[in-house]
Amino acid sequence: MSISPGLPSSSSSSSSSSPSLVFPQSVLTSPTPSTSLPLRTIPGSHGWPLLGPISDRLNYFWFQGPETFFRKRIEKNKSTVFRTNVPPTWPLFLGVNPNVIAVLDCKSFAHLFDMEIVEKRNVLVGDFMPGVEFTGDIRTCAYLDTSEPQHAQVKNFAMDILKRSSKVWVTELVTNLGTMFDTIETQIAQNGSSTYLIPLQRCVFNFLSKSLLGADPKTDPKVAESGYAMLDRWLALMLLPTVKIGLLQPLEEFFLHSFQYPFFLVSGDYKNLYNFIETRGKEVVERGQTEFGLTKEETIHNLLFILGFNAFGGFSVFLPSLFNRIASDKTGLQQSLRDEVKQNCGPSSSSLSFESVKNLPLVQSVVYESLRLSPPVPLQFARARKDFRLSSHDSVFDIKKGELLCGYQPLVMRDARVFDEPEAFKPDRFMGEKGSELLSYLYWSNGPQTGSPTESNKQCVAKDYVTRTACLIVAYVFQRYESITGTSTSITAVEKAK
Ligand code: HEM
Repeated sequence: MSISPGLPSSSSSSSSSSPSLVFPQSVLTSPTPSTSLPLRTIPGSHGWPLLGPISDRLNYFWFQGPETFFRKRIEKNKSTVFRTNVPPTWPLFLGVNPNVIAVLDCKSFAHLFDMEIVEKRNVLVGDFMPGVEFTGDIRTCAYLDTSEPQHAQVKNFAMDILKRSSKVWVTELVTNLGTMFDTIETQIAQNGSSTYLIPLQRCVFNFLSKSLLGADPKTDPKVAESGYAMLDRWLALMLLPTVKIGLLQPLEEFFLHSFQYPFFLVSGDYKNLYNFIETRGKEVVERGQTEFGLTKEETIHNLLFILGFNAFGGFSVFLPSLFNRIASDKTGLQQSLRDEVKQNCGPSSSSLSFESVKNLPLVQSVVYESLRLSPPVPLQFARARKDFRLSSHDSVFDIKKGELLCGYQPLVMRDARVFDEPEAFKPDRFMGEKGSELLSYLYWSNGPQTGSPTESNKQCVAKDYVTRTACLIVAYVFQRYESITGTSTSITAVEKAK
């Protein structure tokens, strides 16, 4: 099933469920075929029971932080594939097995997409799974493996929602961006700067509710006022045990990483959002039942998860990092982006469309490069469906059925065998023929940017919508402003377009 009519896709021709693990020679400096690589025992260890996991947890969250944690172990093991533990762990996560095999280069990471050899049942955030009470006592799409019939049902429903939403997607986005930037300008005028996360989240929440669900938050005062905050609280309670926040230690370890806070703390928020979808998104809810064979409850809980976790959560992480790349740049990038936007889309937001941003190669490349250096979902997991051989660039390893693979994308996306000057933000990296070849190694959507989400894989349904939406936002910004100054948390100055 294709979800891209009217939506230009780098991938619309591909329909394979699992990507090729063969790397083109033009990209890799050492194109040794996997068959001639040496077989190696997986280095590293899970350590002593309890002590190994707790020591790894403290290093991961406190003494090293995730990036240094993985980097140091690559150096120590002289391998991008090794055994380690990832949190959450002891004392109150006794049922969670923290043992993983880290896969930290582009080649080994790509095994996570091959549904013949790995399964994705309940491993969205690792062996730990937030209680199902957070999702209405059902396992929503992202927790389902492709072998479960429900996965195809819900994924096809999600793809259908997106396809239908494309009719209003751009107009809703532009309207809500207008409100957001009006607020930012007012805040800059009053306070000298704008901490824009709340206006941004309001914008994202309103635009997604309208386009994905056909539900207008304005019709429900509680949701209009704080729908975005309800989602933030729900997301926080589910994910806190797995995420480094950066609070004072050891407080963060004691209070945020040692147990899961109970669902009842956000049950009121969840009920409000459930009722909002049930009453204001009637048409979509009905379609889930009549066309995709879901029960009413399954439909609404999945819609809430797609809206809140997948879409709102994803954009809330990605957009601040994209703004930061652009608004903090001092190399003249803004001028180049502005010129490209003005030449190809003119000065008015009414000319913006999925089609028009197709003609903005630099804008697209900047969006891809931001996703490469700051993948919004940093960790991906998959469990071996059977015994198989996994290749890194240098070696082959035996993986046993049931073992959990863990990829940390921020490092994978800086694989020097694939990306030149991997640590540098190169705005034009994905331009031209060589640039488009690199899209096969851009993995932010849990699949290559040249792949297609289908019912038989676990790639993000909105792979193309996310990148096109980001391009539309950049285009909107440079139609409205000559320049914009700020970071991932605040905008300090904007100069209106001449
Ligand atoms: C910047 C925004 C987004 C990011 C970064 C993102 C990222 C991802 C990632 C990494 C996964 C795979 C997770 C895993 O299994 O390991 C995923 C799955 C998914 N995403 Fe997105 N996503 C975004 C926006 C959206 C939007 C707008 C939708 C709306 C329809 C969406 C719907 C889904 C669904 C339904 C899945 C589950 C796919 C499956 O189970 O086969 N995502 N997303």
